[in-house]
Amino acid sequence: MKFFLDTANLDEIREAAALGLIDGVTTNPSLVAKEGGVDFKQHVAAICEIVAGDVSAEVTSLDLEGMLREGREYASVAKNVVVKCPLTMDGLKATRQLTSEGIRVNVTLCFSAAQAILAAKAGAAYISPFLGRLDDTGQNGLELLADIVEIYRNYEWKTEVLAASIRSPVHVIEAARIGADVATMPFKVMEQLIKHPLTDKGLEQFLADWRKGGR
Ligand code: G3P
Repeated sequence: MKFFLDTANLDEIREAAALGLIDGVTTNPSLVAKEGGVDFKQHVAAICEIVAGDVSAEVTSLDLEGMLREGREYASVAKNVVVKCPLTMDGLKATRQLTSEGIRVNVTLCFSAAQAILAAKAGAAYISPFLGRLDDTGQNGLELLADIVEIYRNYEWKTEVLAASIRSPVHVIEAARIGADVATMPFKVMEQLIKHPLTDKGLEQFLADWRKGGR
């Protein structure tokens, strides 16, 4: 399973890249806005300089023409830019068109298996089911992820399943168990994956014993 970092923060991206643990980055308009008035294209270019893997840049237009214009513009920033389009009627049309031009698309805001089927048929490079946001409504994000992986396996669709809106290490572990191609997570979740209180406690004990040995 590939690990993507779900952030637009350059410090977090640098730190995760230095760990050697990330295969790509996903951003969205809310994450970019948190960085405070940055020039979007320049910011995407800066991310692409740090990360060699796929970097998702999301369109903000709602109409087909706007999505195509933005998509072509963002794709021209760097080879590893993947254009993110929402799962709407125009988003699917844009996905089909951009894909036919050789621009890879991550279809985002997916909340049903039916939507995931449509994204695959439109030729998306990635489909992003939002686990946490579905959980927030009382539904089960991981069940949706499992449904999509199962359905996609029945066909030769190239679309990769990208588990998004990940909120906890459990989401990551279960996404791996289900067989998602990618998990995109906030930096905090990546840290939580590393940390275990028994690791810290054990290390402390080892070092205390080592010191008692007189070295
Ligand atoms: O980038 C899309 C997705 O991962 C957003 O996550 O936590 O805002 O639902 P969240």
